[in-house]
Amino acid sequence: MVEKINLKTIQDIEHRFNQDIANIQSIEDLEKIKSKYLGSKGELRKNFLLIKYLPPEERKKIGEKLNQVRLVFQKYINNKENQIKKEVIEKDKGIDVTIPGKKIKIGHIHPIFRTIFKIEEIFGKMGFEVAEGQELENEWYNFDSLNMPADHPARDIQDTFWIKQKRNRDHKKNYLMRTQTSAMQVRYMEKHSPPFRVIVPGRTFRYEATDASHEMQFYQCEGFMVDSNISVANFNAIMNLFFKHFFADSSIETRMRPGYFPFTEPSFEFDIKLKGEKKWLETVGAGMIHPNVFRSAGLNPQKIQGFAFGMGVDRLTMIKYKIDDIRLFYQNDIRFLKQF
Ligand code: DAH
Repeated sequence: MVEKINLKTIQDIEHRFNQDIANIQSIEDLEKIKSKYLGSKGELRKNFLLIKYLPPEERKKIGEKLNQVRLVFQKYINNKENQIKKEVIEKDKGIDVTIPGKKIKIGHIHPIFRTIFKIEEIFGKMGFEVAEGQELENEWYNFDSLNMPADHPARDIQDTFWIKQKRNRDHKKNYLMRTQTSAMQVRYMEKHSPPFRVIVPGRTFRYEATDASHEMQFYQCEGFMVDSNISVANFNAIMNLFFKHFFADSSIETRMRPGYFPFTEPSFEFDIKLKGEKKWLETVGAGMIHPNVFRSAGLNPQKIQGFAFGMGVDRLTMIKYKIDDIRLFYQNDIRFLKQF
C-alpha cells in the first residue's frame, strides 16, 4: 500500500528539519541536511511524488503546503549558510595577519672564523690551497720533523699538553695537542710533490696560564710556498698583498726583522703598521724552510726551496676589530659574539 501523505506528515518533516538545523556546526553538516530534505531523493521530493495518489481535492492543498515548506527550508538553509560563513570569517579575524612573526634568531659567524675565511679568500686568490691538519698530533710531526729534537731549547717555549701515556721511543706514538699548525708542514709534503702553495688554518694548544693576551687554545694559520726558486722577496710580496687586503688598508706599512725559529733559516719576524698608527705590530713568524724540514719529508733540499710562515689568527682578529682580551673569543658570551 502506498504511504498516504497528509498535513501531519508534513508537520513531522518540519519538526525534524528544525531539530536538524539547530544542531549543525559546519557547512558540511548543512550540505547533508540540504540533501536530506531538498535533494532529489530528499524527504520533500519523496512526498511530492506521493501527491498523485491523493484524492484530487486534497492534492492542491497538500501541494501548496509542501511548496511552502520547501521555500521555508530553502530560506533557513541559506540563512544558516550565511551565518556559518560569517562566523568563520569572524574567527579568522582573530588572527591578525599583520602582526609581525616571531623573530628567528640568526647565528653569527665567530670573529675567529671571519678572519679564517678572509685569510682563505685572500690566499686562495694567490693560488694557495687550504689544508687541514689534526689537533691531536704526535711528537714527530709537531716537533722532531721540524728540526726540534727532544732536547731542543725551543720546545720549552711551547709548553705542551701531552696525552697521558707511557713515553714511546717512536715519537710518532707520543701524542700531544698540537702546539703549532707547522705540524702540518711535513705531513703535507709527504703526500704531495712540489711546487706547493698551502695554508693551514687551525686550532693550537699550549699549556699556559691565561691572561688578556694568552689563551690555552688559539688559532694559527700556517703557510708555505715551495718551488725551485722561491725567495725571501716572494715572501715579502705575498705578505704585503695579504695585509693590504686583510686590513683593507692600501697604505699599510710592513717591515721584516731577523728572528729565530728552528724550522727556518734565515728566520724573520714580519711587522705591520696600520694607517694613522704609530706602533709596529708583530704579526707573523716566518723564514726560509730549513733543509732538515725537507729531509724529514723525504725531499731533496738541493732541488727545492721556499718560505714558511705562521700567523696568529686571534691576534689578527684582535687588531682588526680592536679587541683587547683574547679570552673573549672563548667565553661564548652572546653579547660579545653578536657584534660580529
Ligand atoms: N710555529 C710558529 C709558532 O707557533 C710560527 C711560525 C714561525 C711558523 C715561523 C712558521 C715559521 O712556519 O716559518 O710560533
